[in-house]
Amino acid sequence: MSCFAVEGGRPLVGELTVQGAKNSVLPILAASVMSGGVCRIRGCPRLSDVDTTTEILRHLGCETRWEGEDLLVDATCVTGCQIPEHLMRRMRSSVIFLGAVLSRCGRAEISYPGGCELGPRPIDLHLSALRTLGAAVCERCGVLRCAGKLRGAEIVLSLPSVGATENAMLAACGAEGTTMICNAAREPEICDLQAFLRSCGASVHGAGSSTIVVEGGKPLHGCDHGLIGDRIVASTYLASAAGAGGDICLRGIDCRHLSTVTTALMQSGCEIRCEEDCVRLRSTGKLRAIAPVRTCPYPGFPTDAQAVLMAALLRAEGTTMFVENMFDSRYRHVAELRRMGADIRTEGRVALVSGVQELHGAQVCATDLRGGAALIAAGLQARGITRVGKTAHIRRGYADIVGDLRRLGAEVREEP
Ligand code: UD1
Repeated sequence: MSCFAVEGGRPLVGELTVQGAKNSVLPILAASVMSGGVCRIRGCPRLSDVDTTTEILRHLGCETRWEGEDLLVDATCVTGCQIPEHLMRRMRSSVIFLGAVLSRCGRAEISYPGGCELGPRPIDLHLSALRTLGAAVCERCGVLRCAGKLRGAEIVLSLPSVGATENAMLAACGAEGTTMICNAAREPEICDLQAFLRSCGASVHGAGSSTIVVEGGKPLHGCDHGLIGDRIVASTYLASAAGAGGDICLRGIDCRHLSTVTTALMQSGCEIRCEEDCVRLRSTGKLRAIAPVRTCPYPGFPTDAQAVLMAALLRAEGTTMFVENMFDSRYRHVAELRRMGADIRTEGRVALVSGVQELHGAQVCATDLRGGAALIAAGLQARGITRVGKTAHIRRGYADIVGDLRRLGAEVREEP
């Protein structure tokens, strides 16, 4: 089994362009099914989750091909409305196909999506949004069947779920009349999905606020769409340089999407400058503890950046408290970080990170996507070599983490 070998102790210096956002591209690819034409997704990151999504698209009858950095989806012909279990299992976000396929075909059949790595991840809000639009949803033996003529309606989400907001937006495009989604998620990736849908001819307004309004039933067509930069990948590299020390500049990212992360890093003693299309961080590697970090829906501190920020603070002076409010089981990287000498205590939703003088290299295992990235960030500031196993988790969300970090001067390589 391959691993990433990280030799710690070098500052990160240099600049790079951050990949397109994983959490944008997956719903956008699902939405391309509804276009009935050819969609060009510019700057599409080559991730294993993107490969799974293109497999699903092909299974549904679409054609997909790469042209350099662009992924093209031809959805002229959709021949199926079922997604088999082995594809659904591979990633949680496959559930967004429910709204897209229902919208295009009037029915959809999927098995329950995979993804239990962060604790239970129910889809009740997705299903209730579809029911509100008039779909009949039934579940038997783990298979979900949705069908029905959709009509615009008011959907009130009991919490601002990203995936449920996206599913509701897609289904609403195929529903006659007006849909209002209340208490919608406000993440930048929702705005990116709205931009994509509008380029396809849909009428969607309000993304980025808590109320999204969709005028359904508009004829859709193919489009050309450039993805926003991945704010979590950017946060990973910023946190890595903060912990190891260095001077890096990340391009292709909107600083406003990162403000809670950059604020935390500044509090810890890093110098950060945001320019129009780039963010620059300087760190001596000697950080201090910061005020409690509480993960929340956007614009709060992102749960996806919790593990990498924790890695940055492992050697900081003092104790930082983390409160994970989004998922039940999102501290699985902690046991691995402890193997490297970290001092972290957890109880329920809370983790207390007390800075240590030094971390040491160790053999560790990626427990999930962002937790895996945090182990690399910790390895970059540790004495000796850290070997991070189960790299498949990391490849789900980072197109080329080894190449990117090497471009910043890190000593990282893949070992068979
Ligand atoms: C998305 C992101 C993921 C991020 C998460 C939270 C994608 C592909 N993934 O995941 O990286 O960590 O947002 O920012 O965009 N919930 C329910 N019922 C539901 C749906 C959600 O109770 O039907 C709960 C979840 O258990 C969780 C919370 O709502 O506690 C937020 O989840 P949600 O925003 O839906 O996350 P995802 O869309 O799965």
